Amino acid sequence: MSKKILVTGGTGYIGSHTVVELQNAGFEVVIADNLSNSKIEVVDAIEKITGQRPAFEKTDLSNAIETRDLFDKHTDIVAIIHFAAFKAVGESVQKPLEYYQNNLNSLINILDNMRRLQIASLVFSSSCTVYGQPDHLPVTEQTPRKPAESPYGNTKAISEDVMRDFCQVNPEINCIALRYFNPIGAHPTALIGELPLGVPNNLVPFITQTAAGLRKELSIFGDDYDTPDGTAIRDYINVVDLSEAHVVAINRLIKKNQKANYEFFNVGTGQGVSVMQLVKTFMEVTGVNLPYTIAPRRAGDIEKIWADTTFSNKELGWEAKKTVEETLQSAWAWEKNVRGI
Ligand code: WQD
Repeated sequence: MSKKILVTGGTGYIGSHTVVELQNAGFEVVIADNLSNSKIEVVDAIEKITGQRPAFEKTDLSNAIETRDLFDKHTDIVAIIHFAAFKAVGESVQKPLEYYQNNLNSLINILDNMRRLQIASLVFSSSCTVYGQPDHLPVTEQTPRKPAESPYGNTKAISEDVMRDFCQVNPEINCIALRYFNPIGAHPTALIGELPLGVPNNLVPFITQTAAGLRKELSIFGDDYDTPDGTAIRDYINVVDLSEAHVVAINRLIKKNQKANYEFFNVGTGQGVSVMQLVKTFMEVTGVNLPYTIAPRRAGDIEKIWADTTFSNKELGWEAKKTVEETLQSAWAWEKNVRGI
């Protein structure tokens, strides 16, 4: 009998790719999602990729009653991967209360039900945004966190503290936070990928929508940073590599291999890539001439960050494998599939 994993936010970008990898690893999956930033058709696409249809429960996880009902309906959940959260940095500045209410109450409701039902394992979607602009690079897990640049980033830092404090007094509960760097790309089948509603905030979907003719040109936010080509540097990780890290983390918890009942890991490639490098690589691998202009810096952006992945590679026995080139090709293939190009 397959072990059942609850994936909250499982019709979202990283969640859907993780559902695929969980099913490929032999797990049964139930998705809980409120569909506020994703579409139910993603469940069909997952089934098309793996041949298995995950169960789906439309759930507002920030609502305690709905969350309790979810757990009382699926009493055979053995572990949880929690993605469901609002995640637009700029929007969080305009709507702080909605972000704190949704992102924090969702996690608290999940932890409360884990305690009530003795569910021992939780993997949490955290973010390198908790490091702010690091004083030294690359960042390791020992790099001190810094005050977040946005309410979104703050919900991630507070969520880590909630798990740490909760695990401190609930030794039977084990949590792993994965601090993502910048997830990009799409599944090689081009059946699932990143599908931002409205104008994309993130770089790669803006690039692919510009290449598809939906956007006039890409604005590169700032070329006056203290970097080799003046544009900001990030650690771009392939979404399938990132999804596989979640399967590794879940197995670590289920097999009780963890060293402490609250752990966190940097999940990146260890390589810094500038905006301009990414734009040029996209044009090289796709043959598409991408119109772009240099614009002023975007408020809240940090200058440069990339991961030291030594600890996660060694301790998790996981590493990112896919190149930026193949990742950008997968993003473009997905965009063309969505737009029927
Ligand atoms: C990357 C670089 C921009 C758009 C955020 C969150 C992180 C995670 C990913 C949710 C920056 C530049 C972007 C554009 C540009 N969030 N850029 N033109 O801000 O590093 O990370 O999104 O999961 O937690 O902090 O990602 O893709 O928005 O920006 O020049 O149209 O691309 O200035 O330097 P970011 P991003």
